[in-house]
Amino acid sequence: MCGIVGYVGPRQALEVVVDGLRRLEYRGYDSAGIAVVNQGKIESRKKAGKLANLEDELSSEPMSMSSTGIGHTRWATHGAPNDVNAHPHLSEDGSIAVIHNGIIENFATLRDELRSQGVELLSQTDTEIVAHLLSAQMKVSENLPDALRQVAQRLTGAFTLVVVHADSPDLVVAARRNSPLVVGRGDGENFLASDVAAFISFTRNAIELGQDQVVVLTPQDVLVTDFFGNHVDVLEYEVTWDAAAAEKGGFDLFMLKEIAEQPKAVADTLLGRIDDSGTVTLDGLELEPEYLASIDKIVIVACGTAYHSGMIAKYAIEHWTRIACEVELASEFRYRDPILRPSTLVIAISQSGETMDTLMAMRYAREQGAKVLAICNSNGSTIPRESDAVIYTHAGPEIAVASTKAFLTQIVACYLFAMFMAQSRGGVDKAAAREIALELATMAHKIDLVLDTVVGVREIAKELVDANSVLFLGRSVGFPVALEGALKLKELAYMHAEGFAAGELKHGPIALIEDGLPVFVVVPPPTDELHDKIVSNIQEVRARGAKTIVLAEEGDSSIDEFADHIIRLPKCPALLQPLVATVPLQVFSCEMATLKGFDVDQPRNLAKSVTVE
Ligand code: F6R
Repeated sequence: MCGIVGYVGPRQALEVVVDGLRRLEYRGYDSAGIAVVNQGKIESRKKAGKLANLEDELSSEPMSMSSTGIGHTRWATHGAPNDVNAHPHLSEDGSIAVIHNGIIENFATLRDELRSQGVELLSQTDTEIVAHLLSAQMKVSENLPDALRQVAQRLTGAFTLVVVHADSPDLVVAARRNSPLVVGRGDGENFLASDVAAFISFTRNAIELGQDQVVVLTPQDVLVTDFFGNHVDVLEYEVTWDAAAAEKGGFDLFMLKEIAEQPKAVADTLLGRIDDSGTVTLDGLELEPEYLASIDKIVIVACGTAYHSGMIAKYAIEHWTRIACEVELASEFRYRDPILRPSTLVIAISQSGETMDTLMAMRYAREQGAKVLAICNSNGSTIPRESDAVIYTHAGPEIAVASTKAFLTQIVACYLFAMFMAQSRGGVDKAAAREIALELATMAHKIDLVLDTVVGVREIAKELVDANSVLFLGRSVGFPVALEGALKLKELAYMHAEGFAAGELKHGPIALIEDGLPVFVVVPPPTDELHDKIVSNIQEVRARGAKTIVLAEEGDSSIDEFADHIIRLPKCPALLQPLVATVPLQVFSCEMATLKGFDVDQPRNLAKSVTVE
């Protein structure tokens, strides 16, 4: 949510910043802007709409060469997405430029204070006040870093602020609270960004900042302090993926690339975690065996697609470990006074590791004495850093806003955890957990087989492109798959879509069925006790005129006469079926959005990494 880039060094700052913004545009694309320091002046450009608008302007009216620059791509919170509200925001004398990600909660009070001092605010943003507060603070502070520390102490809410000053060439200063910021350490140059993707083509050495820290960047140095100026030691790490991983690599869309990468993402997430005998080992699960043995309740908190992976995990966790498991939308969790004890394990699932709702839910859980296990795809991000233990998914960078490969790897990580618990605690079905672990190890190949069916799925999309609404039905783990199919269609093709537990249909939603309404149905393997029940559900909707698109295991002929279209899935145990059944639904939504001419990688109103509550 908002992409931030800063650079100081011998290269053309403008080029580095625009390149970084291009890689971060998935975080927000309502407007984009840049500021560079040039000969004692700040030069700034900003433009509503996608980065391309700004780039067009820059090519017709180039900016000056500079060694120091900052850039921003916005997901609007305060104020409409227009040129004026785009970042950077400047102080009245134009000497200070500020970019910001997050929400400053005491903005109204500070704005009124500034107005009473005669400051004229040009935008509706909460960010602009920081430029004016800094300008006033510079009159009493020794330097820009000190002024930013003082101002940061006055702000509440979430913010990453990056600042440059006209009189300080070769200096970029940033403050962080509850919003992502990572430093890229180069040789004689340094970078700042919301995400390593922005600078990965220049350096792989990164430093993740902690909460309430200020970083001072010069070409040679990276100095980190708290908001009071006390020095803070930082941990440098190497980013494990390279720039090519964040490129489209021959695909038209990041989403198509990421769908195609799913077999590898799943294989990488399993790598080294299941041995030949089916025994699961989990690196990073630094929880004491006594604590693991004491867990009597698991609560999963997550949002959106990650929440759907949590819903799937619940079935596996309860089945294999017999530990009660609840799944809760992170945004609701802490507001209903949940019962948490030291014996409660909270699992926070997040691709980005920065989702504010999930972060706040897990912080609340820790305050109440529960321990938190993060399942996360982003090394060093806030959620794993603040958790007691972490299982990393190894999906690689996910750039398309709609989550695909991260979802499948989240399911895999949850399953690994469930199996690990089943194998390490007494009194559960260890043999079955081993058997299924060996099955899980074959899933990457099976996902590869499903990808071969995409041509047929695309044809179905062509036939249904004018539908007004689409329903998705499933039971057991097929229910969250149905919800995920509907979510994807909503966010990408802007269509009405709903996922239902198929058994619930007759309690109300069946009234929606009318002639020609497309209904996707996820059918469990024939060996599953719910198989015949869902076949009946297919008949019920078909009898009322629905067009049925049935996802069923290869060789399952029981559905043939009730299906208008059949999408075949490889054989696998019922609990693992979401790993194959989700893939055609991802392809369907992607194709529908493409046929409708929508921007698949950057759907309207959305942003990757939702860092506001
Ligand atoms: C949908 C999607 C979102 C995210 C949600 C949580 O395709 O991507 O629903 O799943 O915003 O994000 P993370 O996993 O980063 O916490």
